[in-house]
Amino acid sequence: MALVRPVFLRSLWRSIHNGVGGKAPVIAGHKLLYRCNLECGMCPFWRREDENLLSVEDEVRMMDSLVRGGVSFLGFEGGEPLLRRDLPEILAESHDRFHTSVVTNGWLLRNRVDELVPYLDLLFVSLDGIGDLHDRLRGIPRSYEKAIEGIRAVRGRVPVAVSYTIQRENMDDAEKVVELVRRLGVGVTFQVAYNYSTADPMAPEGQRLRETLERLLTLKERGAPILESREYFTSVVDSWYRGIPWRCKPWLTMNVDPQGRLVLPCYTLREYGGREPVWDVDIHKLWNSYDWGAYEQCNKCALACYLEPSLFRWTNPTMIRERIIEPIVSYLDSGGPAGPVQITS
Ligand SMILES: C[S@@+](CC[C@H](N)C(=O)[O-])C[C@H]1O[C@@H](n2cnc3c(N)ncnc32)[C@H](O)[C@@H]1O
Ligand code: SF4
Ligand code: SF4
Repeated sequence: MALVRPVFLRSLWRSIHNGVGGKAPVIAGHKLLYRCNLECGMCPFWRREDENLLSVEDEVRMMDSLVRGGVSFLGFEGGEPLLRRDLPEILAESHDRFHTSVVTNGWLLRNRVDELVPYLDLLFVSLDGIGDLHDRLRGIPRSYEKAIEGIRAVRGRVPVAVSYTIQRENMDDAEKVVELVRRLGVGVTFQVAYNYSTADPMAPEGQRLRETLERLLTLKERGAPILESREYFTSVVDSWYRGIPWRCKPWLTMNVDPQGRLVLPCYTLREYGGREPVWDVDIHKLWNSYDWGAYEQCNKCALACYLEPSLFRWTNPTMIRERIIEPIVSYLDSGGPAGPVQITS
């Protein structure tokens, strides 16, 4: 179970090569569908109707255009991606081209572990609190129990990280979830909920959020398995509480909707409204003619899939070590995994 496969090293080279002298996407997130079996208050997606979903052939067409664009990391989500019966076929195609991850609510995970594991580099399972709090935020009883069952079934077979969305009501459970993931032997990733216009306004704010982020940073510095970088937490606190902005580079993260359409400049500002199909676009040309400048000063969201790549610096030795050298060394050693790596949520 090597964390970094040759295909990933090749795609990483593709990203670096495509990015030289211009802008290119490194990470792509793709919603396979909007339908979901849960009803989370903060989430706008389960409330939408799905149009015709892409066939496996169209998914491959999409992936081939991402390869041409320079993408290295492809993350599948939704809606609930495990509701698609053809998910293993889609993941197999992705695994041949990209570092491949999935974000799931975990309800269907236990029964699908064997068919998914061969094609995953990283799996995120969402948990927004312990027990009843998670069930309440997710809108359906027993969703906590099912997610935990799924994590127990899959841990040790692929790198797993819990995905925790910080909301007004669950700020105080964040440390309990860090403790839980330690016991489960998996990682955890945090993002701050964003108030989408068609979801319940559950984004946290004020001094309590600042204290939560600072406590999480302290836990990380003491060795908790929190995947976000130190800079993630300091940048959010600096921009939202101290007036020191970070520079957003939304071109590093591409998003593709369930019909294969590009979502630009980022999925938060566009609320996942797609433009043209990605296979009809010359990505290199579009990426280098689009007016990204207007968004560099935007610090509106704190989604790790945008913030982490934006914060990456070739001049920061810790980032080079954690994100480039350690995964390569772990592949060359290849006796086993060194723990999950931060890719996308
Ligand atoms: C939209 S879900 C899709 C995958 C799957 N259904 C799940 O819940 O993991 C992907 C991630 O987005 C998070 N999310 C949902 N609503 C959000 C919001 N308003 N702001 C930030 N993250 C959100 C979820 O908690 C989940 O970790
Ligand atoms: S966050 Fe995930 S589980 Fe919750 S409603 Fe949205 S898509 Fe479904
Ligand atoms: S900070 Fe603004 S431009 Fe950047 S990803 Fe978030 S919403 Fe989009």
